[in-house]
Amino acid sequence: MEGLVTQMSFWRGRRVLVTGHTGFKGSWLSLQLADLGAEVTGFSLPPPTEPSLFVAARVAKHVRHIDGDVRDSDAVRAAVASARPEIVLHLAAQSLVRTSYEEPDATFATNVMGTVNVLEGARRSDGLRAIVVVTSDKCYENRETGRAYVEDDPMGGHDPYSASKGCAELVVSAYRRSFFGPADHARHGVALASARAGNVIGGGDWAKDRLVPDLMRDFAAGRRTRIRFPEAVRPWQHVLEPLSGYLELARRLCEGEVSVAECWNFGPAASDAQPVRRLADRLAELWGEGAGWDATGEPQPHEAGHLSLDCTKAEERLGWRPTWNLDEGLAQTLAWYQAYYRGADAYNLTVNQIRAHARASAPSPSLAHGR
Ligand SMILES: NC(=O)c1ccc[n+]([C@@H]2O[C@H](COP(=O)([O-])OP(=O)(O)OC[C@H]3O[C@@H](n4cnc5c(N)ncnc54)[C@H](O)[C@@H]3O)[C@@H](O)[C@H]2O)c1
Repeated sequence: MEGLVTQMSFWRGRRVLVTGHTGFKGSWLSLQLADLGAEVTGFSLPPPTEPSLFVAARVAKHVRHIDGDVRDSDAVRAAVASARPEIVLHLAAQSLVRTSYEEPDATFATNVMGTVNVLEGARRSDGLRAIVVVTSDKCYENRETGRAYVEDDPMGGHDPYSASKGCAELVVSAYRRSFFGPADHARHGVALASARAGNVIGGGDWAKDRLVPDLMRDFAAGRRTRIRFPEAVRPWQHVLEPLSGYLELARRLCEGEVSVAECWNFGPAASDAQPVRRLADRLAELWGEGAGWDATGEPQPHEAGHLSLDCTKAEERLGWRPTWNLDEGLAQTLAWYQAYYRGADAYNLTVNQIRAHARASAPSPSLAHGR
């Protein structure tokens, strides 16, 4: 990373369009960008959960909020025209594997055609320089080999969510080759990349059927959590880890570094690809008295057994690497929820962690004191 000072001077006053800003990652990202001084417009459906970080941390006070559906191409175009972004960060998605079994059509419409609509809006936008489309570690065809995925591995997906993210990657690739070609950059001026992150944890996630939100809700209510796939291995990382990758990538794209207009993995270190049971045990231990979980014996729809990402490319070519390891990410996550349930202000909790993470990733103490 080139450091906090570079990021701060780059983002101040930048016009940025974030889709999915009412969701978990989008709320963190919007507050982070606002804290860096960017002018953020968010385009999204209302928050997908109740409670939500978007409401709890008053994100709408810090960004310009547009309520809209990415499946509606006219609404997307109008939002892009009104935001006049230099940078688009596309996060809006139906983001849950289990919901994708119940609503496959809406999942494909949102995650695939929604991505097409955002890129179509981008094609008609003056002054746009960079687009980062957020997909997922689940975009890869999973052959359960236990090997970490590299960016060139084939796209695939067993369930509708995973397949929709593989499709979104193909959409990005086709738009880059057809309309935003790096060789043609001088003419169109836009650099387009995609980002595949791991399983994200952090305060303020209340999505249903996700491990950490389920545990936090149940621990706070004094219930034992029922866990579906305790042996499933996922590349766990704190939400600020992939966000730092998206921001670094967007900055480089915006500055015209067309060689980075590609697909990128932003996952944790290999040792942080851990089974669900290890996270559940650690969070129960950190929470203390009364926290625990049981494996549910009920039959479940298929979910991948082993997922991990090889992030050598981002490390070597972007200088990006994780700042907080899994233990630190779990500690920060638990601290966030416990403070929130004791009445602490969600905005302050979130921004304090954003700043602590930035200080921890700064290359030297002098930069760390820069904010
Ligand atoms: N959370 C994770 O572990 C994880 C891991 C890998 C990738 N991702 C990806 O990161 C992105 C953000 O994930 P998240 O965890 O914040 O998800 P989330 O469900 O909390 O948020 C999704 C956001 O998209 C919006 N949205 C959904 N359908 C929409 C539509 N039709 N039109 C407009 N907005 C719509 C929601 O309102 C919300 O703002 C998604 O693209 C997701 O697939 C998440």
